[in-house]
Amino acid sequence: MSFVHDGWYCAAFSSELEGEPLGRTLIDQPVVLLRSRDGQVSALSDICPHRFAPLHRGRFENDAIYCPYHGLGFDRDGRCIHNPHGDGAIPRASAVNSFAVREEQGVIWIWGGDPLHANPALIPDLQLFDNAISGSFQMNADYRLVIDNLLDLNHAPYLHAGTLSPVGSTRETTWERGARSAASHYVMRSVETPASQKLWFDDPVGDYHVSMEWHAPTILRQRVSMTNVGAPPDDGAMLRAAHLLTPETATTMRYFWMVSRNRLQGDETVDAALRNIVEHAFLNEDAPMIEACQKNMRGRSFRDLRPVFLKTDGACGHARSVLERLTAA
Ligand code: FES
Ligand SMILES: [Fe+2]
Repeated sequence: MSFVHDGWYCAAFSSELEGEPLGRTLIDQPVVLLRSRDGQVSALSDICPHRFAPLHRGRFENDAIYCPYHGLGFDRDGRCIHNPHGDGAIPRASAVNSFAVREEQGVIWIWGGDPLHANPALIPDLQLFDNAISGSFQMNADYRLVIDNLLDLNHAPYLHAGTLSPVGSTRETTWERGARSAASHYVMRSVETPASQKLWFDDPVGDYHVSMEWHAPTILRQRVSMTNVGAPPDDGAMLRAAHLLTPETATTMRYFWMVSRNRLQGDETVDAALRNIVEHAFLNEDAPMIEACQKNMRGRSFRDLRPVFLKTDGACGHARSVLERLTAA
């Protein structure tokens, strides 16, 4: 499987990278993240050019990383600066590749392809409120199954009944497309307030509005708003979330999430309750279902399996075509 190279991926939350090197895999490439003394982040291939040792297990000293196997040293740009063997000459071709990096909005973003093509304008504003809670976890699934999951929230009344989603009731669903984006929107009128909104919305009944926007290759931002019946969505108790999906291999990935709200920000009891609801939904409901689907695919491709196309699959279908175009490019 090939991936979209020309795009930004979340490699880690900023808070995960302090003095120690951090090893991550992104689109089948092992990467080591380094934070220098001036706070700058750099990202190098995590493969030593000598015998391919993982550099992140090495010593990081004075902004240089020393290979744990035979001790070659590399600066933060990947240039070899130290050879402890023989006459100490620096062999040609001993540099390691480096990646374009941006640190913004609490995220360390890595451009998957040629650093010369890196375009910072392709990192969308995640539009989170202050004091977001966040987390990440591993999944055994093709990242595109997770995009399908997020761009088609019609699974919510089945998989998340009563927790993230109101039960029953019809949803008005619409969707939009862009050159590198897709979005789906849902409205449920006069529904029972789900547990995730009860934390800061007092009315037991209201209108429930959800929008999910996808930006290629794997950045999604979501708005959920619970309003009094008939009120516009901006008047409500609102959640804004980001879902950042980082493919590791064809069938494994890391899911980074951030969830923020416009009411009771920073209240630790609400933080803890919200974290419980979100983690329960992701870890006990979405992830096992998506992993079970992946397993059922038995290594065959999505297209080969000729999936049934429902009317509500418009946004997912568009996202898949965009990804196919960008992968081919
Ligand atoms: S593998 Fe890194 S120095 Fe030998
Ligand atoms: Fe879900």
